[in-house]
Amino acid sequence: MKLDEGDFAAMQLAARLSAEYRRDMASATTTPTSGYGEIFARFDRAVPAEGTDGLSVIEELDAGARDGLRAIVSPRFFGWVNGHSHLAGVAADWLTSAWGQNCAGIPMTPSGAAVEAVAARWLLELLDLPAESSVGLVSGATIANFVGLAAARGEMLLRQGWNVEDDGLYGAPNVRVLVGADAHNTVFSGLRYLGLGEKRVTTIATDTLGRMLSGDLERALRASSDPAIVIGQAGQINTGVSDPFAEIIPLVHAAGGWIHVDGAFGLWARASEKHRHLLDGIEQADSMATDGHKWLQTPYDCGFVIVRHESAHRRAMDMAASYLTRDNEQFRHPGAYVPELSRRSRGFAAWAMMRRLGRSGIAQMVDKDIRLAQLMADGMAQIPGVEVLNHPELNQFVVRFGARLGDSEGERLTQATVAQIQQDAVAYMGTALWRGRLIMRVSVCSIATSEEDAWITVEAVRAAWETVQARR
Ligand SMILES: Cc1ncc(COP(=O)(O)O)c(C=O)c1O
Repeated sequence: MKLDEGDFAAMQLAARLSAEYRRDMASATTTPTSGYGEIFARFDRAVPAEGTDGLSVIEELDAGARDGLRAIVSPRFFGWVNGHSHLAGVAADWLTSAWGQNCAGIPMTPSGAAVEAVAARWLLELLDLPAESSVGLVSGATIANFVGLAAARGEMLLRQGWNVEDDGLYGAPNVRVLVGADAHNTVFSGLRYLGLGEKRVTTIATDTLGRMLSGDLERALRASSDPAIVIGQAGQINTGVSDPFAEIIPLVHAAGGWIHVDGAFGLWARASEKHRHLLDGIEQADSMATDGHKWLQTPYDCGFVIVRHESAHRRAMDMAASYLTRDNEQFRHPGAYVPELSRRSRGFAAWAMMRRLGRSGIAQMVDKDIRLAQLMADGMAQIPGVEVLNHPELNQFVVRFGARLGDSEGERLTQATVAQIQQDAVAYMGTALWRGRLIMRVSVCSIATSEEDAWITVEAVRAAWETVQARR
């Protein structure tokens, strides 16, 4: 087929539009000017009977969607733990799509498989994790948690003489699941997918900031001789704290259990000399999940599952088919560690970001984001009537407005102030519930955020809070 000139022009237009969008972003507002309903109405037409040329498609998409985009890549976006979708990663991602490489196996894409293998090794080196670990590149931490827990389930049952991969769960021996009280909801999704049950867990008490209490874990482990899967976390979603791994992991192992750690963003603290002590002992964990599209700043669709027991990882995930030839068993087979067959070659963007930032660039970014979180928390704490509920040891903190007022008035004021901040559109923050109270949550996870952005944000919070108080 001859190259269609319209489609070719569409690619060039997409590159130009992308570059323009990102160039404008430093000064962009952080709130879409059109909402879901408006955007939906624009696109909500009958299925087109005929196709149209590629250039028009991209023009139509940009014209229709542009004003409903949330400026997640803005340096003052603190709403969720989202990375910057760094341009070097985006560029590698474009190539990935243009090359059309399906990373199901080495024969399909020698380059995709080889670059992914190197990215996997670099990840272990950057995070200083055991070299014998196997790594799967998945769509995000949700699926990474699922894969880690699948390996855990298989291994815990195999140690009791039961092959869950062959025989399923009906009639299987018991495996307990112990989870910290402040775990992220995605680990429960993983338990649900695996038939382990979202509610069939023992909850381990946590301290005021969300760290698992090792004494409670020890008691729970002792309460039964059934093997346990324990789920810990590096980086609590509201406060950023991590479990005391040096205490809890030996307890789990002494009880013959498996510990999986959700480190969607927090695991990246291992890349920093200054902050890796927060995760002391984590290298002993049996499996871990983390994201590239958080602190590595890759575009979306980049998560990593890391398992210290390669055979358990492969038993849970590997698949075989006669048409998927494997004549080179000495090489890492990319499909052996993930649940999908056809998938994009995620290793290209992951490799590109590690190559772009290097060890020192990643460490500096992590240190800088933590410093800016602390600076913003301190700045907000000085505003009368504003209460910062945790001094961030990582990149997350929570804030309440109406410090000396009762819970319901404080809740109303917090809601109103966050709405005002979003309306002012200088910075973006959202709300969440923490310890049963509505709070404003701040996540600093972008390479683009500068000290100036941090101060601008503190002033934006002050201004919004003053507006809300003036209305009282
Ligand atoms: C602690 C934690 N775990 C898991 C996830 C899920 O990650 P993903 O959205 O990449 O699937 C997140 C996402 O914010 C998270 O913060």
